[in-house]
Amino acid sequence: MTITSVVQEGNPILFRISEPVTQFGTVELKSLIADMLDTMVATQGVGIAAPQIGVNKRIILVGFEKNDRYPGRDPIPLQVVVNPQLEIVDPTLEKDWEGCLSVPGRQGCVPRHRALVCKGFDPDGKPVRIEASGFHARIFQHECDHLDGRLFTSRVENDEFRSIQSSSEDSGNE
Ligand code: NI
Repeated sequence: MTITSVVQEGNPILFRISEPVTQFGTVELKSLIADMLDTMVATQGVGIAAPQIGVNKRIILVGFEKNDRYPGRDPIPLQVVVNPQLEIVDPTLEKDWEGCLSVPGRQGCVPRHRALVCKGFDPDGKPVRIEASGFHARIFQHECDHLDGRLFTSRVENDEFRSIQSSSEDSGNE
């Protein structure tokens, strides 16, 4: 297992459309997911997408127990989704602050849909279906944006950004 440095804003990897995973259950896929998990935990993320560790594949992780950046949020069990697809259940837009491991030092107020279903596959290719609302749904939308080469900064309206502490150990979250 390896903690990989997080790809930072400005790197073209973050602006590419990532490729679907076509081979499941492989050592490579499981190793990549293990690296994503280690990196997410080490950087206090609440989610991570494969491009953030330099791999343009359609894989996301979501989950945390307790997070200093988002105090008071209900914990989310670890969820790994390969080739995720979002179906919006409640299209109501809610604005809230979010940050990104790839954008240290800043959060932005981003409108996101209130509720969705995330469909995809687990690392062995078994279908998964996850219902999410509120902050949980926000993380899914944020991570899936990464797979389409999009950062939250492009969704912030009226320049609603705020500065956050940005030491290397505490560099913002998904
Ligand atoms: Ni992010």
